[in-house]
Amino acid sequence: MAQPARGSARPLLAALLAPVLVALLAAPARGRGGRGHGDWDTDALLPPLPPREDAARVARFVTHFSDWGALATLSTQERVRGLPFADVLSLSDGLPGKGSGVPYFYLSPLQQLAGDLKENPDATLTMSLAQTDFCRKHGYDPQSPLCAHVILAGTVTKVNETERDVAKQALFTRHPEMASWPSSHDWFFAKLNITNIWVLDYFGGPKTVTPEEYYNVTVQ
Ligand SMILES: *[C@@H]1O[C@H](CO)[C@@H](O)[C@H](O)[C@H]1NC(C)=O
Ligand SMILES: *[C@@H]1O[C@H](CO)[C@@H](O)[C@H](O)[C@H]1NC(C)=O
Ligand SMILES: *[C@@H]1O[C@H](CO)[C@@H](O)[C@H](O)[C@H]1NC(C)=O
Repeated sequence: MAQPARGSARPLLAALLAPVLVALLAAPARGRGGRGHGDWDTDALLPPLPPREDAARVARFVTHFSDWGALATLSTQERVRGLPFADVLSLSDGLPGKGSGVPYFYLSPLQQLAGDLKENPDATLTMSLAQTDFCRKHGYDPQSPLCAHVILAGTVTKVNETERDVAKQALFTRHPEMASWPSSHDWFFAKLNITNIWVLDYFGGPKTVTPEEYYNVTVQ
């Protein structure tokens, strides 16, 4: 058998790989300061997940630690008119550690989904901890409920003058690049007025949370 030969090759291989491993381990951890979101660093700030049975708190946690989500609208595009259409959307519910639970967006009329929303403001927002290191670290597949994710349904509405500053601070802090997006695109601040919430954070099907329960809890 080839056993002895392979056995003797192993120490040599180990000796050759050791410097590589040392170099890899010494390299700065991925994500640390490398995300480019200003002072916001999801990996460094992510505290432990709230108890999974506390669905309202898990929902607030996922919303707060999500920098983006997929927003599904009913399309106004010729080929898929009236059909579901989802796109990635940057969002923020507040400054790090000060999440309000309200997902704020920075939209332009030039965006397909803004056109959809103008005709029908109904939308569904999906966010997942798969976008943080949480699921990778624990080895949870994004579709697994253990990789906590939430689905928020509601209507997307423009924020009023009073709320504008709150939305702007929430978004621009976590997405500094937004400040330099071309003004010719007529960006405006909007939010999801949440009507229904589904939380997938454990086996046994999604849990539902009311907006009242959702806004009633605090995260951290
Ligand atoms: C603006 O919106 C906020 C949040 O919905 C609301 O509390 C406030 O009363 C509104 N202000 C005005 C002037 O409509
Ligand atoms: C938010 O949704 C609720 C329930 O559908 C509705 O009563 C309320 O007027 C909405 N608020 C805004 C700002 O659209
Ligand atoms: C809001 O929180 C308080 C204190 O935890 C609790 O007693 C109350 O039942 C909660 N209300 C809702 C609507 O969740």
